[in-house]
Amino acid sequence: MVDPQMCDIIPGMAPGSGGKVHNDEVDWGHFDADEYYRHNYLKLRADDEEILGFVRDHFASLLDGRDLPAGYRGIDVGTGPNLYPALSMLPFCDNVTLFEHAEPNISWLQDQKRNTWPSWSTAWHQFWDVLRAQQAYARITDPRSVLAKRVEIHQGNVYELKTLAPFNVGTMFFVAESITGQESEFRSAMDHFLDVLAPGAPFAIALMEHSTGYHVADSHFPATDIDEGAVSSCFRNRVSSISIKHIDVGARPLRDGYTGMLIALGQMRDGEDRALT
Ligand SMILES: C[S@@+](CC[C@H](N)C(=O)[O-])C[C@H]1O[C@@H](n2cnc3c(N)ncnc32)[C@H](O)[C@@H]1O
Repeated sequence: MVDPQMCDIIPGMAPGSGGKVHNDEVDWGHFDADEYYRHNYLKLRADDEEILGFVRDHFASLLDGRDLPAGYRGIDVGTGPNLYPALSMLPFCDNVTLFEHAEPNISWLQDQKRNTWPSWSTAWHQFWDVLRAQQAYARITDPRSVLAKRVEIHQGNVYELKTLAPFNVGTMFFVAESITGQESEFRSAMDHFLDVLAPGAPFAIALMEHSTGYHVADSHFPATDIDEGAVSSCFRNRVSSISIKHIDVGARPLRDGYTGMLIALGQMRDGEDRALT
């Protein structure tokens, strides 16, 4: 529960929200992209490594060796200063959309792309080392420049996310539950993400379990308290397969106020498939 008095002095969060903060009450302009990147991704953590291995194997098992059509497209929703979800889709996509809301994160991504990812040598090479244990990734000899060629950065709001051309593969990491205190908005973000995926599209969604919110530099950001059951209920009738794995907090927690991470690996229902109910 957020202390409403604290909200008055913390720039990220609107005052008087009574703990269950809505996404549009948060000042996302106070999201410190550099600090978030430094704290979360400068050194590859055991939990991210475990997640990355699951996502790599999930995408490779469904997509590697398949005759994918030209123009195969991926989307990462709420990218922030995190490139590893995009990297996990790179071998399979001609184009990967990084869809982000906060101005500081858009600037961070644009600067990085313009300068061909200076953060590659400080952070992302460690993540690529995990990915290239699979042949699909190992075949890319210069991932840094391939990333610069294939990604497009778009500013937008997940609650208004729509497309006329559905994406063939998608990721959304630590977003649906980590941008709002409202359970209805958590569900809406999950729905909007699934809505833009094509029939049969593989996807990966990472979430913080039982999160009480988080600080980035001096700003506090809200979270919805979710568990595996809440996540699982979002997929009802929409997917042909889903597996939700729990990642333990481990010896070196990222921060206080969560009980682990969840990674949901699935595939959208195809015309031919039976939905899981
Ligand atoms: C906890 S961060 C996760 C960032 C990154 N995906 C990661 O894995 O570390 C939440 C992200 O969601 C973005 N966000 C906040 N509100 C959003 C909205 N309405 N639509 C899309 N993204 C939003 C934030 O700017 C931030 O980048």
